[in-house]
Order: sequence, then C-alpha cells, then structure tokens
Amino acid sequence: MDRIAIEGGNPLFGDIPVSGAKNSAIKLMAASLLTSEPVRLTNMPRLADTRLLGRLLQRFGCGISESDGPDGQQTLLHTPEITSSFAPYDLVRQMRASFNVLGPLLARTGHAKVSLPGGCTIGARPVDLHLKALEALGAHIDMHEGYVFAQAPRGLKGGDITFPFVSVGATEHALMAAVLAHGTTVMHNSACEPEIVDLADCLNAMGAKVSGAGTKTITIEGVTSLKGTDWAVVCDRIEAGTYAVAAAMAGGEVRLTRVRPDLIAVLLDKLVEAGCEITRGDNTVTIKRGAGRLRPVDLTTDVYPGFATDLQAQFMALMTLADGESVIRETIFENRFMHVPELGRLGADISVSGGEARVRGVERLKGAQVMATDLRASACLVIAGLAAEGETTVNRVYHLDRGFENLEGKLSACGANIRRLKGDSPVEEDE
Ligand code: EPZ
Repeated sequence: MDRIAIEGGNPLFGDIPVSGAKNSAIKLMAASLLTSEPVRLTNMPRLADTRLLGRLLQRFGCGISESDGPDGQQTLLHTPEITSSFAPYDLVRQMRASFNVLGPLLARTGHAKVSLPGGCTIGARPVDLHLKALEALGAHIDMHEGYVFAQAPRGLKGGDITFPFVSVGATEHALMAAVLAHGTTVMHNSACEPEIVDLADCLNAMGAKVSGAGTKTITIEGVTSLKGTDWAVVCDRIEAGTYAVAAAMAGGEVRLTRVRPDLIAVLLDKLVEAGCEITRGDNTVTIKRGAGRLRPVDLTTDVYPGFATDLQAQFMALMTLADGESVIRETIFENRFMHVPELGRLGADISVSGGEARVRGVERLKGAQVMATDLRASACLVIAGLAAEGETTVNRVYHLDRGFENLEGKLSACGANIRRLKGDSPVEEDE
C-alpha cells in the first residue's frame, strides 16, 4: 500500500483546478444504465471509485471507453442491452454507492439481484429508505443471504414517497427508478444536494421529466424510454472545500479554478470567521491566509445547504491550530470522528463526547505517522501534515485515491512538500 509523506511548513501559492464531483460522477454512471443509447460524461474525475463502478457496470453489459477531452477526462458509457442484473457482494462491498445500480437495473429490466452494501467506518449506513422508496414504486423486495432481490415484472409505477429524514443516496436512487415508471412520482423531504440537481438535469437531458430537484419536493413524470446525452459532471464541492481549508491551514494564497463558489458558500463563510480573506469570482475562489493565528469557529454538520459532513474532518484539522476552543458537532453519521485520535498523534488537543468534539487549539502540530481511516479523514490528515513541523506520513492512502484526483500533484504545484511512497505500508491492513 502506498503512503504519503509531507514535510510541513510550506505555505501554498498558486492555482488548483477543481475536478468533477466523485459523488455525482458515480450516480451519473449508474444512470447511464437507464438508456440503450450512449451517454458521454465529461469533466470526469480519475478516481478509484469511478474505475470500480465501471467494472461493475461492465458486468451488466455496459461498454465503457475513456479518453482525454478538452474538458478533462471523458467517459463514454453504452449499454445497448442489460445482459445481467446481478451485482455481487465482492464489488458492492468495496463501494457502498454501487448499491444504487439496483434502481436503474430494476427500472430497465424489471428485476435485479444486488448485494447489500454493509456498514463502514463512519457508521452503520442502512439502506432501508432506498428499499421503502422502491416498494412505493411497486417493486417487490425480498432479502436472502445478504442480497436484495427486487422485481417489478410489469414495470415500476409512479407513487408518493415521503422520506422520514433526508438521505442523499435514497433520493438519488428513487429518482433513477422513477424516471421510467408508469405515471407520476412525488418525493417529499428529498435531499437538496447539488449532486442531485446534477443527476436530475442529466436525466432531463436524456428525456426524463423531473422538476423540483434542489428543493424538498421532487416530481417525476415517468417516460417510456430515455435517450443518450453528453453531460459535464458538476465540480466537486468537497474537493474544492478541502483545498480551501488546506490553504487556510498552510497559509499563503490559493486560487481554486473550475469551481462554483455558491456550492461551498457555508464553508467560505466559516473560513472568513476564522480569519481568512476570501475573494469569489465567477468560476474561481481565492483563499488568503495572513500572518497570525486563526480564530476558533464552531460548526454543526447538516444536510445541504448546511455545513457538509464530508468537510467536517478537514475543518477540524484547521481548528486544531486556532487560538481558542471550537465545538464541532456531527449530525449526519454516528461515527465520523475516527480522525480525532490520529490528529492527536500530531499533537492536537481534542475530546469527543457523543456527536460533539471540543477542539482546543494548540500553537503547533508535530509530524508523525498517522493512519487514514476513511476518505475525508485521510484528507484531514494531509491538511494537518501541511502545517505540522517535520514529516507526517499518512498510511492507507488508498482511501484518498478513492476520491481525490492527483492530490499530491495539485498540492505540490502550489509549493507543498508532499510525495507518494510506493510499496508496502509498515502497518497491517484490515480492509
Ligand atoms: C452520501 O452518502 C455521500 N456519498 C457521502 O459522502 C455523504 O457524506 C453523505 O451523502 C451525506 O452528505 C455518496 O454520495 C456516494 P445519506 P449517503 O443516505 O447517500 C442514514 C464521501 O466521503 N440512512 O444521506 O450514503 C445514514 O446511515 C461520502 O464521499 C439510513 O438510516 O448518505 C446516514 O446516517 C461519505 N437509511 C444518514 O441517513 C437509509 O436507507 C444520511 O445518509 C439511508 C441513509
């Protein structure tokens, strides 16, 4: 397993281009199963997760080709016929979001057998809301031996779905299933994340009739078939936010390009509160951190447009160096403080009680060996390493490769002293 070594202390100066969003790209790839025509996705991030999903889609008869286009990597997905509706455990367990192929397979063929995804380090993450939504669309669901067997031999039917609480994955899943259902579906208490808007807009470009995406109520008038389209993946607001925090932590001045500032507005406001200077352009954001210590800032994670749980770990890293105590509350996942003991190895002073972390800022962090536990926690450790004195080595870098395209390249282009160490990690892997 590769590791990342960072010699801390260099401020960052330069431009960082933001990639297409992982959490949109993988749903758009799954949505391509809904049509027999080709779907071309541009601004595609090169990530382990998109490659893994590609391997799963190929099992269903999807032909995939990748090439470089004017807008970054592009991926052409074409499934003239679904040749299998079976998603095996080995592939689904490696990436929870691949469970979302269930809806498109069911909508297109009337049946599917998909492994349950299981929990992960950040929480149990059940899929009950996904299954209830599919049942509301007329699917018959059975579960045996860790697999979901779903059937709708005469096709799915439009229905009324009320989510008891907001779920990004369940909203997207129900949306993908409902576009080919007979009749109208209304989804209440839907998630409003930008990736859902991206998915709905792409489906509409394919001929679907979806309205209200980005609000709590989404209405879908089912159509009999969808066509192919060309679609540019929305920018990755979590990647953008991560580099914004990295600039605040390391100091210097970084300009994010190919970004939509509105999608990270809440984070940018928090960075201003912490003492950074932010300049928003049309497709750029500049983050400048002057001399002096950061101010402590409290935050509570929430569904969009609230503070993203996927940026909580990174912001916590920043607060470890603030001049005072900040309180960080995690409300989306029950176990998303796995980075706390690792930050402690760098000298951070954090205590956790339930879903609340108290971060007492210290004057400096010191480099150490740390262990990445999940994707966003890994990013937080890299950010902390940029500001720590001496060398920080982040083990289990495969987590980072799932969701950050060319992280070392983007940071070192801005002056970070960061490099990948190939080969065996000295720590034992358990995944
Ligand atoms: C998506 O996960 C993202 N993943 C996550 O990003 C992100 O943290 C999360 O949304 C919240 O924004 C992808 O888009 C691939 P949820 P998702 O359904 O859809 C509970 C990353 O690092 N729940 O909104 O799985 C669930 O356990 C990842 O890129 C149920 O109880 O999130 C959680 O506590 C990590 N039953 C809460 O709802 C269900 O059927 C919100 O989960 C579904 C969810």
